[in-house]
Amino acid sequence: MKEIENSIASCASLVELEKIRVSLFGKKGYFSGQFEELKNLEGEAKKEFAQNLNTNKENFLALLSGKKSVLEEGMMEEEMRKNSVDVTLFNQEQNAGALHPVMDTMDKIIEYFVSMNFSIEEGPLVEDDFHNFEALNLPKHHPARDMQDTFYFNDAMLLRTHTSPVQIRTMLQQKAPIRMICPGAVFRRDFDITHTPMFHQVEGLVVDKSGKVSFSNLKYILEDFLKHMFGDVKVRFRPSFFPFTEPSAEADISCIFCKGEGCRVCSHTGWLEVLGCGIVDPNVFKAVGYKDVSGYAFGLGVERFAMLLHQVPDLRALFEGDLRLLEQFR
Ligand code: PHE
Repeated sequence: MKEIENSIASCASLVELEKIRVSLFGKKGYFSGQFEELKNLEGEAKKEFAQNLNTNKENFLALLSGKKSVLEEGMMEEEMRKNSVDVTLFNQEQNAGALHPVMDTMDKIIEYFVSMNFSIEEGPLVEDDFHNFEALNLPKHHPARDMQDTFYFNDAMLLRTHTSPVQIRTMLQQKAPIRMICPGAVFRRDFDITHTPMFHQVEGLVVDKSGKVSFSNLKYILEDFLKHMFGDVKVRFRPSFFPFTEPSAEADISCIFCKGEGCRVCSHTGWLEVLGCGIVDPNVFKAVGYKDVSGYAFGLGVERFAMLLHQVPDLRALFEGDLRLLEQFR
């Protein structure tokens, strides 16, 4: 009996304990054998045997149920230990988002002009011929229309090829003075390492009473703006042509890669072309019914700025959505 008591005490699992219980209390177990024997006894002997047997039985039942609780509790603890959360563990790496380099550049451009008190205007991407061309001094069959390869829906409707139609929309809705920029997407039938069919421009327009706005105002603000964007660069203005400005110019900055010495990026000229600008052509004011005013306008490609600022060699890479590229701008 002592032996069985020991084996209960040292038993390590509920399965094992159940085996011991069956060996004691099962149909063919120890106690049913003992009770069988009881039948063969009489009188005092029977009484004594029975008493002994009951004590033993109680004793083992108590031992078994005591051990059972201990084992069950142990199992529960084990289970809890296994499923517990270690609050001291480090977090799994989280992928934080970031602004796309083009939007980031756009924000930086907008920030500058908002600080200079320019308002932000918007216009539709699907434009009509009047706003995109006609009112900008680009009549039908004018050869300068070839400067912009246009996506047409039909004779009258198209995807805007520049943000300049928003100059027209703003002037038709508001009176001078005007001091606006228009950031937004534009579309051209172009696709190579520096051109994508959709890209972004920021347009600028300042209009005030006749004689109040001059080319030197334009030069001053653009020079200041380009230094805000590119740091300590030289800025020059080259005569150019746009139908909606007269005179027209293109602004260059000294090459930010070779500091003007000449390299592959600046085609060994030492200069990078960054925007178009000019004094608003009188024909544009005529088209919107403005009288006795003067103004300047400028337009720039945001992707071009982003490429230069981040040294992206192929513009198309900015629109592929490849995380390996985008992660570098986090
Ligand atoms: N709209 C011109 C372009 O897309 C840029 C520009 C805007 C030039 C305003 C002069 C004045 O090329």
